Amino acid sequence: MGRTVAIVGATGAVGQDLRRLLLRRDYPHDDVVFIASERSAGRRLPYGDREVTVRALGDPGVFDGVDVALFSAGGARSREYAPQAVAAGAVVVDNSSAWRMDPGVPLVVTEVNPGALDDMAGGIVANPNCTTMAAMLPCKALHDEFGLVDLVATSFQAAGGAGQQGMGELLAQVPTLLAEPGLLRRDGAAAAKLVEHQVHAATLAFNVVPWLGSPARDGYSDEEMKLRDESRKILGLPELTVAPTCVRVPVMVGHAIQVRAAFSTDVDVDRAVAVLNAFTGVEVCDLPTPLEWAGRDEVAVGRIRRDLADPRALNFFVVGDNLLKGAALNTVQIAELLVDQGIV
Ligand code: A2P
Repeated sequence: MGRTVAIVGATGAVGQDLRRLLLRRDYPHDDVVFIASERSAGRRLPYGDREVTVRALGDPGVFDGVDVALFSAGGARSREYAPQAVAAGAVVVDNSSAWRMDPGVPLVVTEVNPGALDDMAGGIVANPNCTTMAAMLPCKALHDEFGLVDLVATSFQAAGGAGQQGMGELLAQVPTLLAEPGLLRRDGAAAAKLVEHQVHAATLAFNVVPWLGSPARDGYSDEEMKLRDESRKILGLPELTVAPTCVRVPVMVGHAIQVRAAFSTDVDVDRAVAVLNAFTGVEVCDLPTPLEWAGRDEVAVGRIRRDLADPRALNFFVVGDNLLKGAALNTVQIAELLVDQGIV
């Protein structure tokens, strides 16, 4: 076998899950390289029954002998170093947004469009945005049955979508605000000012923040544009209309998305439930919540209702662990496909 896997961003929130999943899923490899920033170089991280020393991303020759490099250290690192990993002979599975919309880079949800790997032009495969990813499984199942034409998608995204810093900021705010229940009720603006926020656009504890990401165009954030553009690419529907709204909520891990999907034919709720139940990676349940699905591989779909006005539209609520199917799990599943298809 002789396969070597590198994890770039091995010390991060997703990196931690990547380490766990490679072992749990018995990914076929003989050696592993952990890579992070200079700050972490020399740290020893447990891996099964041994420890692996973290190397700095800038180290000369850090990708030598690597067959598959799983990148989860932010877009800037992916843009700069993924081509270097490819030049050293690795196939890169990239969890950032850096390469997703590049025409030569397949954007793959393993249960939805595994065949896209055939279009790989330059040794990089992209892992979709965590919110888009969760929505794609039910959307593909329903598209195959009814023909998807329009999506209105409103996300409720966890702090963990912004990595360990995102979760840390939320946790740090809670004790201060917990001690001020009166202020939370009477003067929320004063309560919000009691704590610092840098990662999230406003105080997140005891709050809902209807903005995440950077400004993109016409008042939409880049996170919202990802929902539209990546959905079109993954589903192979360039004309799909999408109305995206992304909202940060005080949840540690687990993104939720309220979806209104309109189709080219009338929908039947029983048939919709049947196709969702039959789709690999989806579980239908009455009341999916992010807390109860944190740590689970499957994407949960519930509250499935025909639209009150349009017989061709369905409303449903999707929940998925953003660090697992939304990131690390799909990354490892892509790496598994690369092995199955003889690409690595
Ligand atoms: P480090 O722990 O050394 O900072 P998260 O998304 O949970 O914040 O994790 C981000 C991951 O990306 C971490 O593993 C982090 O390593 C890594 N990272 C951040 N900046 C760099 C950088 N400049 N070079 C290499 N790795 C980086």
